[in-house]
Formats: sequence, C-alpha cells, structure tokens
Amino acid sequence: MAALRDRLAAAAAAVEAELASLLSPAEDSRLFAAMRHGTLNGGKRLRPFLVLTTADICGADRGNALRVAAAVELVHSYSLIHDDLPAMDDDALRRGQPTVHCAYDEATAILAGDALLTLAFQVLVEPATHADAAVRCELVGGLAAAAGAAGMVAGQMLDLTAADTASLDDIIRLQRLKTGALIEFSCLAGASLGAADAMARRALSLYARDIGLAFQIADDLLDVDGEPEEVGKALHKDAGHGKATFVGRLGRDGAHAEALRFRDSAIDRLALLGEKADLLRAVAEYIVTRRT
Ligand code: IPE
Ligand code: IPE
Ligand code: MG
Ligand code: MG
Ligand code: MG
Repeated sequence: MAALRDRLAAAAAAVEAELASLLSPAEDSRLFAAMRHGTLNGGKRLRPFLVLTTADICGADRGNALRVAAAVELVHSYSLIHDDLPAMDDDALRRGQPTVHCAYDEATAILAGDALLTLAFQVLVEPATHADAAVRCELVGGLAAAAGAAGMVAGQMLDLTAADTASLDDIIRLQRLKTGALIEFSCLAGASLGAADAMARRALSLYARDIGLAFQIADDLLDVDGEPEEVGKALHKDAGHGKATFVGRLGRDGAHAEALRFRDSAIDRLALLGEKADLLRAVAEYIVTRRT
C-alpha cells in the first residue's frame, strides 16, 4: 500500500504538470483562472493514474499516456464544477476549497466547465497524443461515449431524477453511468494506446466496471462517515437530498459489504494479466479503504 501511495503521488505530480501547461493561457483571463481553480486544486487524480497504469501494462508510450490522462482529468474536473452548481448538488466546498461558482460566479463556472470539456477533446486529437490518427479517433470516440448522454451525463441526469426508493438494479445502472463510464474509459485508454488484444481489453473493462461501482459506494460511505478535513467537501448531504445510493438502500454495513464484493470481483478479473497488474489490484484495495 505504501508503494501504491508513492506511485499515486508521482502520477499526480506528472499529470498536474501536464494540466498546468495545458491551462497556461496566452493572456490572463477570468475564464482561465476559473478553469485552473477547478482543475489545479488537488484531487486524487485516480482516473489519470488508471490511464498511466494501464498504458504501462499495455506497453504504451508514457508521454502519450500523460496527455490522455490529462484529458480525462479535464473531463472529470468539468463534471465536478457542474456537479457542484446550485442547480445540481449545490455545494460550496470541493477539494478543500470554495467551489468554482462560489469563488467566481455561476455563469463563469458553467463556462469554465464547458471549456475544460472541450479542451479535453482538443488534447486528444493533437498528433502529440498518438502518431496514429486511428488511435486518436478511437480515444475521442471512447471519451465522448463515456462522458456524454449515454454515459456520465446520463448518470448525472438519473442522479437528479431517481427517487431514494430506487431499486438496487436502478442504483447500479445510475452509478455505472455517472461514475463507472469515465473510470472504464480511463482503463481502456491505456489499452487503445498500447494496441492491446481483445482479451486484455475485456479483462480491463470488467475490472473497471467493478472498481467503478466500488468507488462510488466508497464515495457514498464517505458522505456518511468521512472526516470533513480529509474529504474536502460537505458531508451528510446525500440522504437529505434524496439521493439514490447503496448506503440509502442497504445501510452502511450492507453498502460496505457490497464495496468489498466488487473489490474482490475486480481483482479476480485481472487473473489473465498476471503480475504486471499488481498495481491495479492495489488500486482496488485502495478504493474501498480510502478516507479521501
Ligand atoms: C468525486 O470523484 C466524484 C465521484 C465520481 C464520486 P473523486 O473522489 O475522484 O474526486 P477527486 O478528483 O479526488 O477530487
Ligand atoms: C458526482 O457524484 C459524479 C460526477 C461528477 C459525475 P457525487 O455528486 O456523489 O460526487 P461528490 O460527492 O459531489 O464528489
Ligand atoms: Mg452529484
Ligand atoms: Mg456532488
Ligand atoms: Mg458523493
């Protein structure tokens, strides 16, 4: 676990340098300042870590992977800026700092999110992301599908409309979309960059689906029993907002047991990849024990 912590920190530093360079504007503007505020503000950088790790496993170029890792984090950061807006979860604190709409204003936060989302695709299409245009197209298509109306945005819509009496199957569907889709893209991006075979892609995809669910259950558990200074966002909000979660449906212990079940299943999915997937096994463990 100590090894994983070091690797997470190293990957976060590398992706932050990439993000800082992508977000250094030709001229200083309120829009770029808001984009930086919503992106260069800490965060676990887990999705970038998954891109870098799966790229390593699949033998892809590190420089290419870093650009894809940054693109995924741009989409994730946009999703958090919009998720925190008054029209959505109405949160004032994110990663221990004021949310973008509080530090700036709502219109600026909406536009900063829009611009981050758009920038992600610009990064992916540039030749520096991969020499082969077909691979860049595959990445663009994959990220668009994961982020859009059949992926994360669909999940966010369900999150807003689902009743807290939703069935477990409905909650799983919601969470696969709102959180799982981007995590799955993150794991498959390394496979695209490294031209992995169908068996490896299938293993990574099934692993990602399991850790995606475990990750969102852990997030929902932190809402109930996290420490505010560690989590860096307002807690005890989901129940009052009628959110459809595993915790609401199964209680804390039941939800925790489900998270562990998904962790175990995720680790089983990696059998085919052997020892080179050890870091991914450690990630599955980290996801269910994290306090941030
Ligand atoms: C928070 O994601 C939103 C969810 C999908 C649960 P993270 O827990 O990865 O947030 P950061 O990036 O570390 O702040
Ligand atoms: C957010 O889920 C998921 C996305 C941003 C797509 P949550 O609303 O549970 O995330 P937090 O708890 O605000 O980080
Ligand atoms: Mg939300
Ligand atoms: Mg939220
Ligand atoms: Mg949450």
